[in-house]
Amino acid sequence: MRKLAILTSGGDSPGMNAAVRAAVRTAAVEDIEIIAFEDGYRGLLEDRTQRLGPRSVSDILDRGGTLIGSGRSEEFTTPEGLAKAAGALKEHQVDGLIVIGGDGSMRGAHELVQRGIACVGAPATIDNDLGGTDYCIGFDTALNTIIYDVSKIRDTASAMDRVFVVEVMGRESGMLALHAGLACGADAVVIPEIEFDYQEMFDRIRDASGRHKMHYVILVAEGACSVHEVAKRTTEETAEEVRVSVLGYIQRGGSPSALDRTLACRFGARAVELLAEGENDVMVGVLGEDLVTVPIAEAAGAKHDIDRSMYELIGRLAR
Ligand code: F6P
Repeated sequence: MRKLAILTSGGDSPGMNAAVRAAVRTAAVEDIEIIAFEDGYRGLLEDRTQRLGPRSVSDILDRGGTLIGSGRSEEFTTPEGLAKAAGALKEHQVDGLIVIGGDGSMRGAHELVQRGIACVGAPATIDNDLGGTDYCIGFDTALNTIIYDVSKIRDTASAMDRVFVVEVMGRESGMLALHAGLACGADAVVIPEIEFDYQEMFDRIRDASGRHKMHYVILVAEGACSVHEVAKRTTEETAEEVRVSVLGYIQRGGSPSALDRTLACRFGARAVELLAEGENDVMVGVLGEDLVTVPIAEAAGAKHDIDRSMYELIGRLAR
């Protein structure tokens, strides 16, 4: 193996840089050249590259975002775009491509495999919605961001005796909201995967002041419903003062947590090793402590199962 390409694609997530660094330095040990396509599949279509070496990835381990850029490309998903992308990779005579990204990025990699390009994926998305892995790079950092922000919201909620409806990201997945809900002691969590009992929540809020409860925080996954609608109904049903807070893109930024850094280092290094071993069309993942591989199509097609017991525990602990 002489030459590899790498790209980061889709919504950026903290730890992508650490994965790129690990891949580049692992390749360097084996004298494998690495080029990066900038801004994900878009840069691949526009043939924008940069050569990466051990020194060019210095001091990026702890930085959020992605220094080689990321993006989404409509053109890439068309048959013409895919053919053009595969052509560009062949033109550069790369022996394989490492794709660091989420669901759509993995689907793209699988399409490139059908066009003769060896691809290995490394899951990176704050949504944590890929199959075959317990964690994706960035999820843990986003979770930490949410719990710090929600504790600030709780301060003001408590001071002002208000109900807060807080929207968290996750696309169509409730993973972020579920884990954050437990970790920050939310009073209720609304996620797309489980039907929510609004009447029960309204009863609890009405009852809350009797229990000397000073605040009430409802976490809503963006894919579940509109936070403004939840706030409107809650005001109508409980006559409490309700405020909305949309956490938004701060959830995607920041220096990666220890967990995301270690995961990213392991995923980036393993991706190079897998290509060097002749593996293709697989994504690296982690199950428990162990690194595993899963066919890319399976990882992209499957969704993480929501742990119902975790959801119920949030309800039991919210007293
Ligand atoms: O997939 C990561 C994510 O941040 C989702 O949680 C969110 O729905 C989406 O990306 C936002 O995408 P964009 O950056 O294109 O607005």
